[in-house]
Amino acid sequence: MIIKKVSILGASGMVAQKTIQAFDNAGFQLKLFARSVEAKYPNQTVIKGDVFNYKDLESAIKGSEAIHITLRKLDEFGAVTRIVEVAKTNNVKLISYVSGATVIKENSWLPFIEAKYKSEQLIKASGIPYMIFRPSWFMESLPLMIQDGKPKIMGKQPLKLQWIASEDFGKLLVNGYQNSDCFNREYNVFGPEALTLNEALEKYIKVKLSDNSRITNTPFWLLKIIAFVSRNKQLNQTIPLFEFFEKTKEVGSPDTVNRFLGKPNTTLQQWLASN
Ligand SMILES: NC(=O)c1ccc[n+]([C@@H]2O[C@H](COP(=O)([O-])OP(=O)(O)OC[C@H]3O[C@@H](n4cnc5c(N)ncnc54)[C@H](OP(=O)(O)O)[C@@H]3O)[C@@H](O)[C@H]2O)c1
Repeated sequence: MIIKKVSILGASGMVAQKTIQAFDNAGFQLKLFARSVEAKYPNQTVIKGDVFNYKDLESAIKGSEAIHITLRKLDEFGAVTRIVEVAKTNNVKLISYVSGATVIKENSWLPFIEAKYKSEQLIKASGIPYMIFRPSWFMESLPLMIQDGKPKIMGKQPLKLQWIASEDFGKLLVNGYQNSDCFNREYNVFGPEALTLNEALEKYIKVKLSDNSRITNTPFWLLKIIAFVSRNKQLNQTIPLFEFFEKTKEVGSPDTVNRFLGKPNTTLQQWLASN
């Protein structure tokens, strides 16, 4: 089965940028969908809309052979439920989905993971061929840890993460699209090095910040007080996620990725030198 027309749902997102570039370089025809997506690619179609608006979603999907879901900061399971419904009535031949490296049933007590776990199950049961991707943390997240010029991390975060460059991810995703032997598989996507958040951010600081900034690891009890006093809803929602990451190891093996899609090999040092 040859797939050439793909709808990217979440096309304005951080991870999506290198994915779109990889598809564009490989000659795919794309529909780039989000509420606020820019028209950066002359050969590709931009559709602005909300995934929860049926008409918007239908125009994002109509005419495409495949859907790539890279959505965040929304009711993810609700969104995926609607996407699968529209995919079924539009003869979609493949759904690829960006999940996460800690998504397993045992971790589904956290609503964020539950939404992803249920979304994976729904896609797998849809009858439409699929590829599920469970990537580690993207290197592109590191700049988000610099707030007001200062490197800050919630909690101690002692666990090692297997950082992946979104450019490597885009390339292996497109490899999967080009070979139907890769369909109906689940991929745990890990980069070549395991580093804690502090270790990775220290490398980032050395290359990207002019001063010798020290990382602040703010304890959760203090973050909770700050969130309560300032009535900061976003902080309040983010704290449980970082409490989860502090205690929960990434799961799965990179073997299926290495065997079917190619081995991601960009190290953080290489990424820092070229981004
Ligand atoms: N960041 C990481 O390190 C990491 C690691 C592992 C897995 N992931 C997964 O990778 C995926 C992408 O993450 P990201 O960091 O790229 O997220 P992001 O930058 O926050 O992008 C999220 C995308 O979702 C779109 N979106 C949200 N609500 C929408 C709505 N109602 N209708 C249409 N579009 C909507 C946003 O577009 P608009 O706001 O313009 O509509 C945006 O394009 C997520 O599933 C995330 O869990 C990320």
